[in-house]
Amino acid sequence: MRLPNKVAIITGAGSGIGRAIAVLFAQEGAKVAVSDIDKDSGRATVDMIKEKGGEAFFVSTDITDPVQVQSMLAEVKKRYKKVDILVNSAGIFLVGNIVDTNEEMWNKIMDINVGGTFLTCKYCIPLMIENGGGSIINIASEAGLTVWKGLIAYCVSKTAVIALTNSIALDFASKNIRANTVCPGTTETPMPLNWAASQPDPEKARRAMEEVRPANRLGKPEEIAYGVLYFASDESPYATGAVLSIDGGATV
Ligand SMILES: NC(=O)c1ccc[n+]([C@@H]2O[C@H](COP(=O)([O-])OP(=O)(O)OC[C@H]3O[C@@H](n4cnc5c(N)ncnc54)[C@H](O)[C@@H]3O)[C@@H](O)[C@H]2O)c1
Repeated sequence: MRLPNKVAIITGAGSGIGRAIAVLFAQEGAKVAVSDIDKDSGRATVDMIKEKGGEAFFVSTDITDPVQVQSMLAEVKKRYKKVDILVNSAGIFLVGNIVDTNEEMWNKIMDINVGGTFLTCKYCIPLMIENGGGSIINIASEAGLTVWKGLIAYCVSKTAVIALTNSIALDFASKNIRANTVCPGTTETPMPLNWAASQPDPEKARRAMEEVRPANRLGKPEEIAYGVLYFASDESPYATGAVLSIDGGATV
């Protein structure tokens, strides 16, 4: 087991990549706080973990609300006494160029993808310091490393997540806090699959997402989760401020 006795918070753990991380971390011995705005899917993740004999509980959180973020952290601290690992996987996707993107949608994606990650890190770091350190892993995207056509708000939000994570790495290395970014390529989760399904030719939309990368297929959530596990574990003590692409080669 790679995470024995670790306490991990995973935001967006009700679906997709966040769920795969929560399930893997529990298998590796972590006590997992499954955090999501969606109560049903969050509870379903906890059930999946418990069925496999793991330890987890659900904490409902809208990461854009500082009051909810602080009470989520207080609940985790009360239950498990500490926080070792924070993974920010909660996020939304938005298609559009600058003219198509209205102010409301721009503000919403910045609020969730950047603001939410800012808030969970901001309020979790003091708890980690109290405990002698910790590991933060933020999920950005291949769209945070290179810009993609017709995705301005999403690309800007994910580039900001990388900068935010690297700033934390720089500012808190002396407190034994590591902060690393994982940049998935398009992965088989509701996020891109629902978008493809909404297109006039869903099969063509899916093929386009596959063909843009040398691996010629989409990623699986578990394939992203193993990269996150590396940064969460004590096997990566020298890794901070790192940006790991797991994207089937899309950003070469
Ligand atoms: N799936 C991909 O192709 C892909 C590729 C690159 C990066 N990513 C990133 O990976 C992360 C996870 O994506 P996914 O594919 O698992 O998406 P998903 O839609 O399956 O899951 C996202 C989860 O975030 C939760 N969420 C949304 N807003 C929230 C809020 N305000 N507060 C708390 N929770 C909230 C949702 O309820 C959902 O459970 C996202 O940050 C996404 O941008 C995904």
